[in-house]
Amino acid sequence: MADPDRPIALEAYEALADGYAAKAETKAENGYNEHPAIRRVIGAVTGLDVLDAGCGPGFLTRDLIAAGASRIAAFDVSPRMVELARERNGPETPIIAADMAKPLDWLADASFDLVVSSLALDYVRDWSKPLGEFRRVLKPGGRLVFSVQHPLGSYLWFRPETAFGVHYCEASWRSFTEEPVIVPDYYRSFEEIVGPLLSAGFALAGVHETRPVPELEQIDPEKYRRHSTIPTFMVIEALRQ
Ligand SMILES: C[S@@+](CC[C@H](N)C(=O)[O-])C[C@H]1O[C@@H](n2cnc3c(N)ncnc32)[C@H](O)[C@@H]1O
Repeated sequence: MADPDRPIALEAYEALADGYAAKAETKAENGYNEHPAIRRVIGAVTGLDVLDAGCGPGFLTRDLIAAGASRIAAFDVSPRMVELARERNGPETPIIAADMAKPLDWLADASFDLVVSSLALDYVRDWSKPLGEFRRVLKPGGRLVFSVQHPLGSYLWFRPETAFGVHYCEASWRSFTEEPVIVPDYYRSFEEIVGPLLSAGFALAGVHETRPVPELEQIDPEKYRRHSTIPTFMVIEALRQ
């Protein structure tokens, strides 16, 4: 029987890490849709202490440093992603391997102004754990900005038995590696996104359905049309109460 404590996407992202690091920034879904969308919502970070949770190969970490964040810490469950994020960001940025479903016990209470998490919470079933920890490490009034799959796009993609609730799903990803990789995931309804956020002590400050940037229309008209018609991701902003 599968170990319920084992992060569901660990093996998949170990297999995907190098391909993801090489290709995500020029992939329609990431580089031309979710990446610009979450950066727009994050906004100015000059002088802020920031935590990047589920940092992958460190693209967002790199951009936060370049945008003037004062201190940045990052982590990801995949050791290979952590290596790639360290290579990209250098030794001054502490980046460690850790599971966001477990206590973030190396991080002090009230030590960050901003927690960001780009497309990583999708792989955790019980959000009370990461959201509780994000709240603990945020300073009072601090901001959480995270992106997840949009329930509509995700429902049409995974076709779980019902659109209500949280459902384990799998997809075969072909674009980052030569051999397809099975990626486990959780489909999550809108209620299951907002409810845990409010229960964890956050106030909802913004919901943004992402759209691709206009330049994608020239590069990949079919994907531009698809992602402009059905929202694939959403970016949520919340304030620590
Ligand atoms: C789609 S990638 C996004 C990476 C990065 N945030 C970006 O925007 O490029 C999802 C990331 O979430 C990480 N992840 C999955 N489950 C996790 C968990 N339980 N704790 C921490 N990171 C996790 C994966 O290893 C992977 O790097």
